[in-house]
Amino acid sequence: MKTLIIAGGTGFLGQILENYFKAKGFTIKILTRKPTKKNHIFWDGKNLGEWSKFFEDTEAVINLAGKSVDCRYTKENKKKIYHSRIDSTNVLGLAINLCEYPPKYWFNSSTATIYKDSYDKEMTEADGDIGDDFSMNIAKSWEKAFNENTNPKTKKVVLRTSIVFGKNGGAYIPLKRLVRFGLGGKQWHGKQKVSFIHELDFARAIDFIITENLEGTFNIVSPKPIDNKTLMKIIRKALNIPFGISHPKWLVEFGAKLIGTETELVLKSRNIIPKRLLDEGFKFKFESINNAVNAIQQTI
Ligand SMILES: NC(=O)c1ccc[n+]([C@@H]2O[C@H](COP(=O)([O-])OP(=O)(O)OC[C@H]3O[C@@H](n4cnc5c(N)ncnc54)[C@H](OP(=O)(O)O)[C@@H]3O)[C@@H](O)[C@H]2O)c1
Repeated sequence: MKTLIIAGGTGFLGQILENYFKAKGFTIKILTRKPTKKNHIFWDGKNLGEWSKFFEDTEAVINLAGKSVDCRYTKENKKKIYHSRIDSTNVLGLAINLCEYPPKYWFNSSTATIYKDSYDKEMTEADGDIGDDFSMNIAKSWEKAFNENTNPKTKKVVLRTSIVFGKNGGAYIPLKRLVRFGLGGKQWHGKQKVSFIHELDFARAIDFIITENLEGTFNIVSPKPIDNKTLMKIIRKALNIPFGISHPKWLVEFGAKLIGTETELVLKSRNIIPKRLLDEGFKFKFESINNAVNAIQQTI
């Protein structure tokens, strides 16, 4: 039986992958700081430990560990966001290199937020503009740490994932809440592009990369980004809410402060294309936001 190890696998994306790959017959082990289940293994995300012995002869290690970015970017939070990602990546690299039979694959999370704000230019893996603000610099450091850790027997994949739309977590939950409160109009001018991926396509894309024996950097996004105004309209329609109050920029900024988060999620324009997945022949199940949102609503 093939084994998959998911570091930081207790969270939103980890649970999507655990359910998907378990159904495909994989044995799943999860590295967590707070084990609560039989397949949970303790680690602290920064030091080598007993956990590393589970890496021998496994199919893949997938690293999703990181302090949530859904917080205010205070000095202290910035430090935690940075260290939780870089330290976990480095220690996983050490563990892989201690193996006699290392994992066939090592996937490391990055983020589609690594690309600059863009309305017109489509960001691809080979021709995307990498930016220079806090989130983009975190992503660059994350990928640098990952790229510096090598093992000739392990294929490596960088996951530049966009906002994942799913039923049990992620950005869809707060957006849905806004819509239910009648506040689901456009944010700011509503023209900012939204790159997204449905949770099933997120898992299928990783499965596809393994099956097709691929490696390198992948944009894990649907090929059809939409704009914020359209996104909000589609969620309103799916929830049968006929109207939604729009939010000027100052109100988005005020609201974000009030609920302790940053405005980046809704104000940044993300125009990202999964060129490598498309070139390799990956077929999305939920290309359009309409299909993605409706599919999620039907399973709730
Ligand atoms: N959700 C999205 O749409 C999205 C999009 C692009 C990229 N990403 C990235 O993908 C990764 C997973 O996302 P997610 O939505 O599943 O996040 P999540 O629900 O917050 O889960 C992340 C996991 O990381 C672990 N963690 C938190 N702080 C840690 C620390 N200081 N040291 C070690 N581990 C820590 C936690 O596991 P334990 O508490 O069990 O140890 C947690 O379950 C994150 O790095 C995120 O930045 C997410």
